[in-house]
Amino acid sequence: MLQLKPLCPGFGLEAAGVDISQPLTDAAFAEIERAFYAGQVLVLRGQSLTPGEFVAFARRFGPPEPHVIDQFHHPDDPNILILSNVKKDGKPTGLQDAGSYFHTDYSYLQVPARATTLYSLVVPKVGGDTLFANQQAAYDDLPEAMKKRIEPLVAVHHYGNRNDTDEQSRTAASPLTAEQKAKMPLITHRIARPHPVTGRKSLYAVSGSSFGIVGMPDDEARALLDELARHSTQPKYRYSLRYGVGDVVVWDNASLLHSATLIDPSDARTLWRITIKEPTLAAEAILAPTFVPGTM
Ligand SMILES: [Fe+2]
Repeated sequence: MLQLKPLCPGFGLEAAGVDISQPLTDAAFAEIERAFYAGQVLVLRGQSLTPGEFVAFARRFGPPEPHVIDQFHHPDDPNILILSNVKKDGKPTGLQDAGSYFHTDYSYLQVPARATTLYSLVVPKVGGDTLFANQQAAYDDLPEAMKKRIEPLVAVHHYGNRNDTDEQSRTAASPLTAEQKAKMPLITHRIARPHPVTGRKSLYAVSGSSFGIVGMPDDEARALLDELARHSTQPKYRYSLRYGVGDVVVWDNASLLHSATLIDPSDARTLWRITIKEPTLAAEAILAPTFVPGTM
């Protein structure tokens, strides 16, 4: 029986009494899945996992999708992306400073990520928290006039951080090679996006990969996206997750923004990451290619 306690008022749950290195019965996983959708962020402390066990756990949530940055896929399983600042023989062993700005994973893809899971192996002496911002609460709190205004709006996304496009910066999106960039199309998602499982609306990816709004001049679109991002990342919507060794966190990308935090590059930190895609195309993803302003 899963023992749950809140991480903070509003969202986030910590579960005890489960060892995810062992195969989970359908009933045991159903409890975890319910806690995941209820909490939006679910933390399972103190696990001890092989790459295969971590991937098997992730697969219970949906299909893993290897990251476009393929230089740091785990040698035993490409579904795992290694996040690390540790160098071996002068060479990086993982992706450093990934996602140090508010964003949601794979919002630059037609079928975005349902969930992301991290397994913490080496914890830095100072910092290394992941920040989360609750986009369901941020949507709910919008004035009715703003909810009406954004209801028909569809944002244009591509890989990157619209607030920092300098590839040398630690708070830009991790740079892609020319070949990786060529795989990255422009895609669209609703701003007031219903959750693909629960149906509850969230502000979706108003920070990070959203660079414009269909049918709106760029300056007006950026001003609106910036206003929504300022609103939705206020401290009252945030939680800062501190990691211990062995902690596994899984979060709901449809209802949250998240941001890594920068640490001293000499303070060792290593996590494994698996990103799980939404298993079916969301309705707006199917509609997007033929979208005509004023028809939604
Ligand atoms: Fe991320």
